[in-house]
Amino acid sequence: MKETRGNYGSDPRLLISKLCFPRQLKSPKTLTKPKQMATEMTTNTIWYLRKRPVGEVAPDDLELVTEEMAPLAEGHVRVRTIYLSLDPTNRIWMSDMDAYLPPVEIGTPMRGGSIGVIEESRSESVPVGSIVNTGLAIWAAYNDLPGEGVNVLPAIPGLPLTAFMGPLGATGMTAYFGLTEIGQPKAGETLVVSAAAGAVGSMVGQIGKNMGCRVVGIAGSDEKCRWLTETAGFDAAINYKVEDVGEALDRHCPDGIDINFENVGGSIMEEVIARLNDFSRMPLCGLISTYNADPDESTGPKNFANLLMRRTLVRGFIIIDFLDRFADGFAAMASLLMDGKLQYETDIVEGLETAPTALARLFEGRNLGKLVLKVSDEP
Ligand SMILES: NC(=O)c1ccc[n+]([C@@H]2O[C@H](COP(=O)([O-])OP(=O)(O)OC[C@H]3O[C@@H](n4cnc5c(N)ncnc54)[C@H](OP(=O)(O)O)[C@@H]3O)[C@@H](O)[C@H]2O)c1
Repeated sequence: MKETRGNYGSDPRLLISKLCFPRQLKSPKTLTKPKQMATEMTTNTIWYLRKRPVGEVAPDDLELVTEEMAPLAEGHVRVRTIYLSLDPTNRIWMSDMDAYLPPVEIGTPMRGGSIGVIEESRSESVPVGSIVNTGLAIWAAYNDLPGEGVNVLPAIPGLPLTAFMGPLGATGMTAYFGLTEIGQPKAGETLVVSAAAGAVGSMVGQIGKNMGCRVVGIAGSDEKCRWLTETAGFDAAINYKVEDVGEALDRHCPDGIDINFENVGGSIMEEVIARLNDFSRMPLCGLISTYNADPDESTGPKNFANLLMRRTLVRGFIIIDFLDRFADGFAAMASLLMDGKLQYETDIVEGLETAPTALARLFEGRNLGKLVLKVSDEP
């Protein structure tokens, strides 16, 4: 199932203020009285991590468990999951590598971000019926969370809820801050982005185009490459599965490469590094080609020395580094969206029970745009 962008209403400033300051929507006047504790028990369905995957996630690495929920605690809200975000980093969290967050412990629910609707509230700050971004929650039909920890999302005419996981969500913010803060694009420069037709990459390239760059994307199919050049406005796209990436980069980047927005790692990264210009920048966003690999066997780029010779700025980043500046990112991305300067796709798979197999789509390149799991219907 796919969704595309639509009409977002007539007043851009109102939209931006809603996006940037969603908590304004929860002024005391607009609150309905919190619903009292439900008397009936709620049954939840939860994915538990049972084993650390070796290579690709295997069917018995996770287990879907049905259990009764405890009564909702004071100050908490019960969120029915509508959309679960599926992200490459889910695979990192399943491993015990030394990462930016602790691993998910074996025998505990799988971690994930979601959008849902409040079905029960014992929090003065969030009324029943609110649509919220849960932040970090779990792979489950329901999440009980502190009311203060969820973020109420505005209803924007014509804007699908899933956009808050794409251009206006964490992946959009990753693209925006990674490119503008670390990539520091200037008009006329050449920007190369890998995993270009994915959630982050597709935004990176279009932000770069809007800043006047020549943009070359690298992706894994002719269909994706066509989408990049014909819909998203990239100057060129390289299908790394059938083309010689080095030769294609030489052809499409005659003046060398000023910015490498790195999403993939491995040999694709090495071909880009080999063509970097002096004082180039390399936002190191992800290394998806290594996530299913044995961490002890992962190697860095063979041509690491070129980063010295070209005096390249390489900076790894995680989007949570920019949390306190999300309002700026929202405003910038919303503005591009409203001006019709951002095209995006959402790849929607249905059913909580399909979560592990749906996640595999990211590693098989079967998604175009943001991969989202639909768990239940929107109200
Ligand atoms: N630093 C941060 O805060 C942050 C935040 C979000 C995401 N990320 C990273 O950004 C990257 C993209 O994430 P996303 O959420 O936007 O996912 P995505 O790009 O929507 O999906 C992943 C894509 O990666 C490509 N891919 C998978 N395995 C590959 C391989 N072995 N070699 C080359 N390409 C491969 C596939 O496309 P093809 O068909 O083109 O192969 C796939 O569609 C990931 O590395 C992720 O970890 C980082």
